[in-house]
Amino acid sequence: MIRYVDILEVRPPVAMRVLEWRNSHRVRRGMLSDALITEEEHLRWLDSLASPLKRQMVRVAFMGEEAFGVITLKDIDRVSLRSDWGMYIGDERFLNRGLSKHMLYSLMEWGFEDEGLERLFTSVLASNVGALSLYLRFGFHLEGRFERHIFRDQRWEDVYWIAAFRKRWAEIRDDLKGMAEEGLS
Ligand SMILES: CC(C)(COP(=O)(O)OP(=O)(O)OC[C@H]1O[C@@H](n2cnc3c(N)ncnc32)[C@H](O)[C@@H]1OP(=O)(O)O)[C@@H](O)C(=O)NCCC(=O)NCCS
Repeated sequence: MIRYVDILEVRPPVAMRVLEWRNSHRVRRGMLSDALITEEEHLRWLDSLASPLKRQMVRVAFMGEEAFGVITLKDIDRVSLRSDWGMYIGDERFLNRGLSKHMLYSLMEWGFEDEGLERLFTSVLASNVGALSLYLRFGFHLEGRFERHIFRDQRWEDVYWIAAFRKRWAEIRDDLKGMAEEGLS
């Protein structure tokens, strides 16, 4: 059974595992910035999440008692009802098992249903083919491409911007739920 717990409510060792995940080469490689994060920066970031503005919210994914990944809504705009978002599986034992489909479904349900947002958007490195194809399957559409936006590992990389709207979510939610549950079999 997968459940999601606000990072401000998990035990301190779990919150610190999230720092290890954020700093792992595999997770950093999928992010716009691959800078290493210090413990002090991580603690400051956790503090910032407690602000009443709630511009970013972070949930840790658990399978039983094991924490394995993160879903987040960030730069939430409560006037324009939109949010950037992100996700990753930190614990490698949980990769390639289809669990990201459950994570993405839960993130969309959280954003569109619980937070009442109209638009969810994010960026994806062009080389992150697995993530991009997952997002397109889940009703996100391409809005733009920033060419040669990132210089990393001695080469330039393009970044895609993708988005989904609440209306689309309402149309395909039931199909997405089916796909999300496939990941659990
Ligand atoms: C992105 C991430 C969460 C995906 O999790 P995963 O365990 O690798 O992928 P899953 O096994 O859950 O695959 C889910 C779906 O993704 C798609 N997918 C995954 N790898 C793929 C690939 N190489 N090519 C095409 N589609 C792929 C498929 O649609 C797959 O669905 P299926 O199981 O029905 O075939 C994980 O790889 C990760 O944490 N990456 C590092 C951080 C990151 O890049 N985050 C995203 C930043 S935008």
